[in-house]
Amino acid sequence: MAKENLGILCSGRGSNLQSIIENIESGNINAEIKIVLTDKPDAMALSRAKDAGIKAVCVNRKEFETREAFEKALIKELKAANVTLVILAGFMRLLSPLFVRAYEGRIMNIHPALLPSFQGAHAHRDVLAYGVKVSGCTVHFVDEGMDSGPIILQEAVPVLDGDTEETLAARVLKVEHRIYPEAIRLFAEGKLKVEGRKVKILE
Ligand code: GRF
Repeated sequence: MAKENLGILCSGRGSNLQSIIENIESGNINAEIKIVLTDKPDAMALSRAKDAGIKAVCVNRKEFETREAFEKALIKELKAANVTLVILAGFMRLLSPLFVRAYEGRIMNIHPALLPSFQGAHAHRDVLAYGVKVSGCTVHFVDEGMDSGPIILQEAVPVLDGDTEETLAARVLKVEHRIYPEAIRLFAEGKLKVEGRKVKILE
């Protein structure tokens, strides 16, 4: 199979980016990261990409008047880099239909809770406030809604007495670093078949 060309979008720390870089370097995923894009100039993801010899560009949201202009600039970078699969890795912006249609069925996201529960930007806080005993993380395709596309992989993580947002986030993150690369590997090997809301894994 042809190698998948990844474009990874980040807003901050980039630990999921790092785990994807390491899984490609160790030969687990048949893909190449063509470009890392951030919406913020101080995102740690930029230096992680550069350290790994990957092209990294900040498309600073603040320099664009509209979301449309900002997303068109992202798409231009992705197309110029021949990206075939867009990976949202801690990218803290909702993408409009304009962007989603440009990469229909070829955008993945990771969310730090078991969707469809606890959508949105404060999953761990909401999990703790609700008092659930189990949380986890979800890798899903991105559609035009928020955290609503077909689910590829999920894994549960216990919520423990005395957890803070930080301790829960750290426990969930360890699992994120395992299942996100796994979902990308499956996609790159042509093993994901989407049927409506359901994603079949062909192995
Ligand atoms: C992760 O918890 C991810 O699930 C969420 O944002 C966080 C990003 O962390 N979408 P990092 O930037 O990959 O370290």
